Amino acid sequence: MRLSFLGTGYLGATYAACFAELGYEVLGYDVDDAKISKLAAGQAPFHEPGLDDLLRRGLASGRLRFGTSMAEVADFADVHFICVGTPQRPDGMGADLTYVESVVTTLAPLLTRRALIVGKSTVPVGTAAWVEQLVAKHADPGLQVEVAWSPEFLQEGYAVEDVLRPNRIVAGVRSEWARDRLHAAHKGVFDLAATEDRDVPVVVTDFATAELVKVAANAFLATKISFINAMAEVCEVAGGDVTLLARAIGYDPRIGNRFLQAGLGFGGGCLPKDIRAFQARAQELGAGEALRFLHEVDLINTRRRGRALTLAAELLNRPVGPAGPDLSGTRIAVLGATFKPNSDDVRDAPSLAVASALAAAGAAVTVYDPQGIPNAREVQPSLTYAPTLTDAVTDVSLVVVATEWAEFRNADPVLVGDLVAERKVIDGRNCLDPGQWARAGWTYRGMGRPPA
Ligand code: UDX
Repeated sequence: MRLSFLGTGYLGATYAACFAELGYEVLGYDVDDAKISKLAAGQAPFHEPGLDDLLRRGLASGRLRFGTSMAEVADFADVHFICVGTPQRPDGMGADLTYVESVVTTLAPLLTRRALIVGKSTVPVGTAAWVEQLVAKHADPGLQVEVAWSPEFLQEGYAVEDVLRPNRIVAGVRSEWARDRLHAAHKGVFDLAATEDRDVPVVVTDFATAELVKVAANAFLATKISFINAMAEVCEVAGGDVTLLARAIGYDPRIGNRFLQAGLGFGGGCLPKDIRAFQARAQELGAGEALRFLHEVDLINTRRRGRALTLAAELLNRPVGPAGPDLSGTRIAVLGATFKPNSDDVRDAPSLAVASALAAAGAAVTVYDPQGIPNAREVQPSLTYAPTLTDAVTDVSLVVVATEWAEFRNADPVLVGDLVAERKVIDGRNCLDPGQWARAGWTYRGMGRPPA
């Protein structure tokens, strides 16, 4: 079975490489020539551990190719996966489906045999049925081209592992033929699981449920993070420690200990935009009230960024006026520019938002990140970036750890202490050992924890 992946961003590029690894013949398609040339040379256009190796192996085996010709895609593959982006609309709420529409209406008229088109992109509920209509309008009706929806749950930094070893597959289908084709397109995933004595559960659903599973999962994860950040806010005024609280509630298996890390909140290309698009869609469907809590989830999330600013003013003994703190004349290092470690993705990164807010309050801010600086420069060109951790912290009065990279978690507080002007640190991800930093002479402030 031959597969195509339409759109070679995070999703499509990872899928193409992983499915070639699983033994399929694969063609990755994109309109972006530069991206395709990079991928065809065995280089992922973003930082993802393990992906470059898979790309090179796939290309060398001859099973993996990349191209910009949709005619070639139509001729080549039996199953086509839609992996294009669905960005936030400029109005800030709903999802922009332009790229979905474009790949479907370009592919459909070029098809010459029966094919299955599988949606993987995160979309508003109702999109699969709309794609079906587009296919009916643009493909030769004699070919019986069908649509399925199978959302994707991969996390950046673990994308290869999540695609090769998914914890479930959701199959939104309208016919047995579509269900069987989708199953066959994942046979490599099931075979790999069998050799490792694992099971990959398949949940067969209608279109609407399949689309909703994805946004519901992201809404739940975002809610879990904002829940613990709300507890952090309460701990801050009550004198509690949210890290101990999270540990204690997490032992209850009904709650679970993951995604209870309080800090600067969630960012990235998925959670923030998906919860907004989900609210907008529910509103359109007349169920806006059901998701009103997601607005609160969003507010709690952005409040954490403000908290970092207030803490900075407090530590630097600066006044906080009605327009916010005045940090002019201070020097601050922000460690981290990506939305999470092991990624070069800076989309909606709390770290960069905090760095910009500190700079806007008058501080001279220097940002360092092990992988994210080239992307950060593009979205925040006015900030100052340092090539190393040492450069970033030299002579500053405050260090803000904004992304929990191992390089920061493992930094020696004594050595860093010798470089700074004042030993003051805000641990925006609660990833440092407060006792160790306090013993090295630092004034430590975490998020939702007592001062150390
Ligand atoms: C997320 C979902 O996890 C994934 O299933 C979906 O397919 C896409 O969106 P990703 O955006 O890669 O994946 O990042 P994730 O690891 O979920 O982290 C999201 C954000 O939440 C990061 O900014 C992270 O720092 C933050 N986070 C995560 C917390 O603040 N606390 C936590 O306990 C966990």
